[in-house]
Amino acid sequence: MNRAGLFAIRDVGSLVHETSEQGTELKKTVGVTQLTAMGVGAIIGTGIFVVIGKGSGIAGPAVVLSFVLAAVACVFSALSYAELASSIPVSGSAYTYAYATLGEIVAWVIGWDLILEYGVSVAGIAVGWGGNLNAFLDAAFGVTLPDAIAKSPEEGGVFNLPAVFIVLAVTLLLVRGVSESVRANLVMVVIKLTVLVFFLVVAFANFSTGNFHPFAPAGTDGVTEAAAIIFFAYIGFDAVSTGSEEARNPARDLPWAIIGSLAICTAFYVLTAVGALGIASPDQMKDSDAPLAAALDQGAGMSWAAGILALGAVVAITSVALVILYGQTRIFFAMCRDGLLPHRMAQVHQRYGTPARLTVLLGVLIALLAALVPLGTIVELVNIGTLFAFVLVNIGVIVLRRTRPEMPRPYRVPWSPLLPLLGVAFAVYLMSDLPLDTWIRFVVWLAIGLIIYGLYGYRNSRLRRQEAS
Ligand code: ALA
Repeated sequence: MNRAGLFAIRDVGSLVHETSEQGTELKKTVGVTQLTAMGVGAIIGTGIFVVIGKGSGIAGPAVVLSFVLAAVACVFSALSYAELASSIPVSGSAYTYAYATLGEIVAWVIGWDLILEYGVSVAGIAVGWGGNLNAFLDAAFGVTLPDAIAKSPEEGGVFNLPAVFIVLAVTLLLVRGVSESVRANLVMVVIKLTVLVFFLVVAFANFSTGNFHPFAPAGTDGVTEAAAIIFFAYIGFDAVSTGSEEARNPARDLPWAIIGSLAICTAFYVLTAVGALGIASPDQMKDSDAPLAAALDQGAGMSWAAGILALGAVVAITSVALVILYGQTRIFFAMCRDGLLPHRMAQVHQRYGTPARLTVLLGVLIALLAALVPLGTIVELVNIGTLFAFVLVNIGVIVLRRTRPEMPRPYRVPWSPLLPLLGVAFAVYLMSDLPLDTWIRFVVWLAIGLIIYGLYGYRNSRLRRQEAS
């Protein structure tokens, strides 16, 4: 069923069929464990190692509840992602789902919006990487990079050199064809979880309840406001869906991997937040660029442990940057393939076999952002963009149930439309807790996107051209 015009829809059958066309068929080798590891690989990073500090500054010790609230907000959307990923196992994630359910213009808006989730978040991740690098240098060698080259102008520096370095390094790796190879990702996931377990052991061995009073100095408003920021820590479970085409058994494995990785990270996050507050006060963490390391150093007086943690965080955050930037190039690639962005931008490099031009362009833009914008601003923008994508994915489930009731759905969200509607409600609730400035930036971003669609995508869309011919 195709509707012409702005709301033209790509047929699910043909989308799936295209993935097995000769020359563009991806190998289906990834099993459920690796898919779950991919999710954990994309999730655990700057959020738990850095943003936890800002969250505790807002909510106090009740930031623990903010972690729970953000997780609950994600669960319903995770179920919706699971249904769509298992029934439309095609690259492109929410962008592709929207193209198959809500129409081209919505797909464009979501693809444009996903640049905020994937592209801009890499800038935030990079800033977090720099903070932990400095904490490591401090703990191991007693030196830190001067503020001028380690902070954004708004925070008293000139530009953030470590953040630029990691973005460009990851960009080069991706250009050379080092994708998130399953084994490398598994190794990094093991390092991450080991570092967090190390933190938990040290924190609970030195635990005291003193820092938990007063528990919620800013009340419930503080808890929800912090949850809207802490949400950043959970971003990435949806990245599992970008690996759909490579899944050996997407119908069975994708739902498990999406929901499983979210569950594992939630457990780690809540325990880590409790552990951190067991050894350090919110004041000791809130302004730190590496709050978990600061908790060990200033809270527990263990600078050697802080050094190990900061180094582990640097490795952990590197993998997040790699996987998320990889996801961004995939989504852009899909948009170029559909003609909504210039096809030649997605040209594959002859020697490396990767979309080198696209990757470098994105890498340079993201590096600039990471150099000049403080973490807080980036996180808020990423969160509003991601929450908006969640809203559309939940609506996509409801719409597709009505428009294509007969379509095989290996995984079905229970009690639809109730749970998808709850997903929408939670996402809107967290969005409403983000500052007005963030909303303005977000609306301006979407407006720019619509102008580009009007000038380019609408005329060059492959789907519309096919319909016309
Ligand atoms: N969830 C990812 C992180 O915390 C984006 O770094």
